[in-house]
Amino acid sequence: MNILLTGGAGYIGSHTAVVLVEAAHRVVLLDNLSNSRQEVLSNLERITGENIPFVKGDVRDTTLVRQVLEQHDIHAVIHFAGLKAVGESVQAPMDYYANNVQGTISLLQAMEDCGVRRLIFSSSATVYGIPQYLPIDEAHPTHPTNPYGRNKRHIEEMLGDIAGSDRTWRIVSLRYFNPVGAHDSGLIGEMPRGIPNNLMPYIVDVATGNLSHLSVFGNDYDTIDGTGVRDYIHVMDLAEGHRSALDYLDTRAPTMSLFNLGTGNGFSVLRMVQAFEAASGKKIPYRFAPRRPGDVAACYAKADKAAIELGWKATRTLEEMCASAWNYRSPSTKTKTP
Ligand code: NAD
Ligand code: UD1
Repeated sequence: MNILLTGGAGYIGSHTAVVLVEAAHRVVLLDNLSNSRQEVLSNLERITGENIPFVKGDVRDTTLVRQVLEQHDIHAVIHFAGLKAVGESVQAPMDYYANNVQGTISLLQAMEDCGVRRLIFSSSATVYGIPQYLPIDEAHPTHPTNPYGRNKRHIEEMLGDIAGSDRTWRIVSLRYFNPVGAHDSGLIGEMPRGIPNNLMPYIVDVATGNLSHLSVFGNDYDTIDGTGVRDYIHVMDLAEGHRSALDYLDTRAPTMSLFNLGTGNGFSVLRMVQAFEAASGKKIPYRFAPRRPGDVAACYAKADKAAIELGWKATRTLEEMCASAWNYRSPSTKTKTP
């Protein structure tokens, strides 16, 4: 089937493109390259052996999206395109509403115009806000604590309204926990611009020598070793979750559904450091620092709903997550082969 991936040149979109091509789907990528690089496209070609159609453009350009949907006879859309830095969303909320909420409205308008009513949306565990209980299931209340999280929740509510207005829509919102790691080829992966905000890319930058040490934000949480606990999920497992969600859309999905995509396991910051050191052979110097404002002690998923209804489970280990993240960025693996 022909699937449009908005934001398809980005971190999660590019890995999902590989999984879908391998599952014999035809994918088309639409991306404005605001947070990704053109070279991802040639690397995708090296991995898949396919020439993947790419449209450089913005999801807010409704006319362009309509053209792409028609020209490529698109059956379903996976909507990854958006801005995703929590701190930045606090500084520049307007940019986030314009890009994320308005971008989704533009996409939905184009889809409605073209009669394409199959959508998978990239949501986030951040919609839950401060956990009221653990593990977090899909029925957990949603109280996002920042504009980025509110964007995601507003969009989910909008999608629910649209699905309710026309029973021919099939919409799945996937709430990702903490994606890390890279494709085994080392050709695609996570490469944030500037100093990373998130733990894994920060650790990798320390390993490469770009940064001197990791600041561990808080060592007095009520967790196994006092440091924050999160549900890290291998990006290839996450990508496979999208393939399962596509099958679900076409076979048994109600008009609108929500799923956590996580492993169900929580790992502390120090456990992550230890696992990365073991996988890379690199020492990661760290210092304890004050808690990061807005952080919670622990957050991990109850992943049963996706297992039961989508038939999907994360299978890759923490060691595989760390080894693949390092393989992507390690200077000693410069010559990569798919
Ligand atoms: P990413 O930044 O690597 O990918 C997003 C892509 O969208 C980028 O290539 C960017 O150039 C493109 N883009 C942004 N705005 C666009 C627009 N208006 N029009 C066209 N293209 C546009 O991010 P990612 O990590 O791959 O995340 C993908 C999605 O998953 C995002 O919606 C993000 O909010 C969500 N998500 C990510 C995480 C995470 O930790 N990576 C966690 C939860 C949810
Ligand atoms: C962050 C986002 C969240 C998003 C998620 C997706 C914030 C506040 N939240 O959450 O909205 O859905 O990423 O991946 O940005 N840590 C350090 N030192 C660092 C970086 C992180 O100790 O330099 C710790 C954090 O305190 C936390 C853990 O590592 O305990 C994971 O942090 P991070 O990777 O930023 O993810 P989240 O906090 O879960």
